[in-house]
Amino acid sequence: MSAAPPCARSSTPYVTTSPCRRRRLPKPRSSRRKTGSRSWAAAARRRTRSSFNRANTARSPAIAPSQGGFVAASQLQDTDEAVLVLDNVSKGFSGVQALDAVTLRARAGEVLALMGENGAGKSTLLKIMSAAHAADSGRIVLDGNEVSFASPVDARRNGIRVVAQEPEIMGNLSVAENVYVGALPRNGRLVDRARLFEMARSDIERAGFSGLLDPRAYGRDLSPAQRQIVEILRALVGKPRVIAFDEPTSSLSDHEAEALFHLIGRLCEDGIAVIYVSHRMKEIFRVATRVLVLRDGRVVGERPADETDDSELVRMMVGRDLSTLFHHTSHEPGRPILSLRNLTSADVHDVSFDVHAGEVVVLAGLVGAGRTELARAIIGDLPVTGGTILVDGEEMKPTSPRDAIRAGLCLAPEERKTQALLMKRSVKDNISLAIVGQLSRWHVIRRRQEREVAARHARRLSVRTPNLDNEVSKLSGGNQQKVVLARWLARRSKLLILDEPTRGVDVGAKADIYAIIDQLAAEGAAVLVISSELPEVLGLADRIVVMQRGRVSGELGRDEASEENILGLSILEEEAA
Ligand SMILES: Nc1ncnc2c1ncn2[C@@H]1O[C@H](COP(=O)(O)OP(=O)(O)OP(=O)(O)O)[C@@H](O)[C@H]1O
Ligand SMILES: [Mg+2]
Repeated sequence: MSAAPPCARSSTPYVTTSPCRRRRLPKPRSSRRKTGSRSWAAAARRRTRSSFNRANTARSPAIAPSQGGFVAASQLQDTDEAVLVLDNVSKGFSGVQALDAVTLRARAGEVLALMGENGAGKSTLLKIMSAAHAADSGRIVLDGNEVSFASPVDARRNGIRVVAQEPEIMGNLSVAENVYVGALPRNGRLVDRARLFEMARSDIERAGFSGLLDPRAYGRDLSPAQRQIVEILRALVGKPRVIAFDEPTSSLSDHEAEALFHLIGRLCEDGIAVIYVSHRMKEIFRVATRVLVLRDGRVVGERPADETDDSELVRMMVGRDLSTLFHHTSHEPGRPILSLRNLTSADVHDVSFDVHAGEVVVLAGLVGAGRTELARAIIGDLPVTGGTILVDGEEMKPTSPRDAIRAGLCLAPEERKTQALLMKRSVKDNISLAIVGQLSRWHVIRRRQEREVAARHARRLSVRTPNLDNEVSKLSGGNQQKVVLARWLARRSKLLILDEPTRGVDVGAKADIYAIIDQLAAEGAAVLVISSELPEVLGLADRIVVMQRGRVSGELGRDEASEENILGLSILEEEAA
């Protein structure tokens, strides 16, 4: 197989043509910008779809695109020199050695999956790559030359892109401005808004996200999925060479995730090196060529994706076998704790169902089906416009989450960073937040008890933190999620609503969370879980309520549920309607 160096196959608009032999790469010259290779959008306008495909094939002789553009691992081994190498990189934060001599090689046209438990060091590694953090030791080698990026802007200019785990979107700017910030098209000194929106529209279409995002919508009005798509689009602007996706699908629906997988396939065809971080095995085997596993900041091993399997990867990540991911014991449901009768709010219509003591009910459906809105209406966070909510047989009209908490209902929300956590406060304060009333006497918090409760719940959920006084902002994404759950588990409420409880959580901690949910139900709590992951829906639920466009489209008992009939109730009838 011919082994063209990655930098040599680059007429593509988003693969840099910059020379490879420099210690630090120069800023792109203005003449290069004038060639029209500035953006995806510009490229889209210049080419028809068929010429785009032709160009790709001609451009990548070393890589024979297999189905969907992905390349079998065997085709790649020992062909290309890596575009980017993070060589022996170490990074410590106070009290934590986040990375210890980690080496990662990103090769053109390949998807390298990066896996590991929460806190293993994945995001830190990507942040070093994009110069958001400086490594304590180790080298970054781009096209065979050691580089040192002065800033994230410098790394970006050199084609390094990281799609962050928690996108930073500016609420008062439009989607288009958020995507092109720093590279807005100008007409003289003014921003050319017509061109800006047209570029964004064309980029959205080209990336395969048509209909999912309005270029003129404001950042503050975007759903988590839309924010994630904006973050992805940003990475495509200009000439990326290496794109790292940090858990990109955690807030995407299956449909949106599918669009992303196609996009990744095309990026590979165009010789871009892709790094993909995810806790979802299915996705890893769908997109990855190779898998690099980290544990406690060290490399445990690297495998070609087609020469490994779920259990080997789990063993590498967790250090033990996980025989059962799901814990489910059948409990005899008790009295109804929550009864909804024709509940209606802005995005929820005529919803009726019960959740009994000792029962786990899972709300399934597509992202946008109205499940989070329903949960927020139940706890008084969104106005109810019709119908009734009965708690333990008594009508409740909560006007705020505080009312609902008093009545014994709790919601662990989906958006941990904005809706749940006090990022500047400690792990202990965040866990004990919902129980300070219970822990206080004469308005004085019993500190020792507070610490004990926080420590017990942090341990139960394996929250990885050097100590309980550590600021929550310093935890890894998955560990932050565990802190949110620990808070509501500490409260021991009658009804616990968990909105996407395992989002961003590693496979070992997932098993712990499923066991805890099962145990809560066994102890008599009613649990309502919102989940978009079908295996989780099937593994956890005693009963499944499927929603579609704000309405209940069906209910399934544990024994009659399957991926097909849940999907059927989520999508198919909608298409028929
Ligand atoms: N700014 C920071 N200050 C202190 N410690 C930090 C900081 N950022 C990360 N850490 C710590 O470094 C370790 C690695 O964190 P990192 O975010 O890289 O994990 P991760 O593998 O991305 O986990 P997850 O799957 O939960 O996202 C964790 O123990 C985390 O608490
Ligand atoms: Mg992370």
